[in-house]
Amino acid sequence: MKAIEIRNKYLKFFEEHGHKVIPSSPLIPENDPSVLFTTAGMQPLVPYLLGEKHPEGKRLTDYQKCLRTVDIDEVGDNRHLTFFEMMGNWSLGDYFKEEAISMSFEFLTKHLNISVDKLYVTCFAGDEDCAKDELAASCWEKAGLPKDHIYFFGKDNNWWIAGEEGPCGPDTEMFLDTGKEPCSEHCDPSCDCGKYVEIWNNVFMEFYKHKDGSYTKLSQQNVDTGLGLERMAMLLQGKKTPYEIEIFAPIMEKLQQLAKIEDIQSRRIVAEHLRSSMMIIADGGIPSNTDRGYILRRLIRRMTRHLNKLQIDLNELPNLINLNIDVLKNMYPELEQNREKIAQILVAEKDKFMKTLVNGEREFEKVIHRLQNENKTVVDGSIMFKLYETYGFPPEITSDLAKEQGFTVDSKEFDKLFKEHQEKSRLGSEQKFKGGLAEQNEITIAYHTATHLLHQALHIVLGEHATQNGSNITTERLRFDFNHPAKMTKEEIQKVEDIVNEQIKKDLPVTCEEMTLEEAKKSGATGLFENKYGDKVKVYSIGDFSKEICGGPHVTHTGVLGTFKIKKEESSSAGVRRIKAVLIK
Ligand code: SER
Repeated sequence: MKAIEIRNKYLKFFEEHGHKVIPSSPLIPENDPSVLFTTAGMQPLVPYLLGEKHPEGKRLTDYQKCLRTVDIDEVGDNRHLTFFEMMGNWSLGDYFKEEAISMSFEFLTKHLNISVDKLYVTCFAGDEDCAKDELAASCWEKAGLPKDHIYFFGKDNNWWIAGEEGPCGPDTEMFLDTGKEPCSEHCDPSCDCGKYVEIWNNVFMEFYKHKDGSYTKLSQQNVDTGLGLERMAMLLQGKKTPYEIEIFAPIMEKLQQLAKIEDIQSRRIVAEHLRSSMMIIADGGIPSNTDRGYILRRLIRRMTRHLNKLQIDLNELPNLINLNIDVLKNMYPELEQNREKIAQILVAEKDKFMKTLVNGEREFEKVIHRLQNENKTVVDGSIMFKLYETYGFPPEITSDLAKEQGFTVDSKEFDKLFKEHQEKSRLGSEQKFKGGLAEQNEITIAYHTATHLLHQALHIVLGEHATQNGSNITTERLRFDFNHPAKMTKEEIQKVEDIVNEQIKKDLPVTCEEMTLEEAKKSGATGLFENKYGDKVKVYSIGDFSKEICGGPHVTHTGVLGTFKIKKEESSSAGVRRIKAVLIK
């Protein structure tokens, strides 16, 4: 079964079970300062897991584009991917364990025709925070799974949370027995020898983990499930790696034809990173030296290096891009819509990087010879840093090359040197990437409402062109990027501040209405009109002052916001200005 058929079956099955199909959110999350990319299906739905009402109801199903870069260095092996698609079904305070498990069982055994003999599950074993999940286990048995196919494990295996803080809960994970020999007498689904492959996860999200490590119950019991599409396609097609399924096979084949040397790892890296970069660019990403732009840059550079290593003529890149778009456009029409932009950005970035690559590799060879002569096995951080500083040679490429020559790298020392010398720390942004989901508390909610006031005030003072370009909220401040060609004058800044504070003083009510996207447009609401929240959207009004399409949540009255103060107005990029502002209580 092809991936797209699995996707369609999944959505149809859950639609028939009362779920509304919602579209994938973009890979680049909005209003979420703590992650660079959407890393799980639940991420765009966090407000609704915490109790916000979703305009499409309490039962949703979707496919979500996800990107995880924590394992980026593993790509090239037979299983790790950075970009993947996660199918999900969601109960937002509606059904819970029994129905979730019975639907999962039915879908796997009746619709994907997976035999019960091959199906294994794990449930939460219980600890001081939460009791053993006997209910989940009994639901599996009731559904038809033999008792000896049910295992119990602790938080390490059967508890799901994104990052350190946020909605979470015990989960039950489903595994397929690949038929491989057990690696030992203790081999079970928690073992990663490859005998048991995880195929689906049902998280029973009823807790919130706080920063201090404590747990409280959420206002509702949710179900969050995630099924990795590429992996499922691979298993159902009887393939050993995702690179053999129809998503990757054509590009892998093409790379083999073009390559002058045999290196399957490099071919996989090129195929994988090409797909991820294309998906990021289609969702608005641009290579840069910070945050998500740097992740994109890293993916493109690594792909370029491996193309080069395979001795493939780099002028083939546009052909490879076109081939990939043709293969993937049924699943992701946004690729076709952005065909030109994708090629432009990828080719320009590749060209820029090639010079650095050639000079850096030459220098690296010299260094490695010297170290070999000295019988060393470690490339120390100062060498990595010198290559970086003098030749602009990226540390991750030094590290890749070193590993290929049997060396290890002292990246800790590199990090230290790097931090000392760079103000804009890329590694800092990687750190940030590893963080949890956006916190949602009284302070960030207040900043969210203040952002709407600021947006409208900018429209009044600067004009209708001053539309949102980006937004980022922490408990310390709000940051708002908007389109405007010139630096704001002192007077303009003062005016914006005054207007916002006036609305706060008026203690305007904040109200929410649900309507179709068409109705929202007609009502004059601002906001991004892309198919973000399905057909129905929420429109938040602040008195008569502002009206925006938004997922929420917001304060109920502006009076609680305190005093609004703009701390900084600066350039963000060409034609885009950035404001940082605080609320003082
Ligand atoms: N949130 C869970 C995961 O990412 C299930 O969707 O695995």
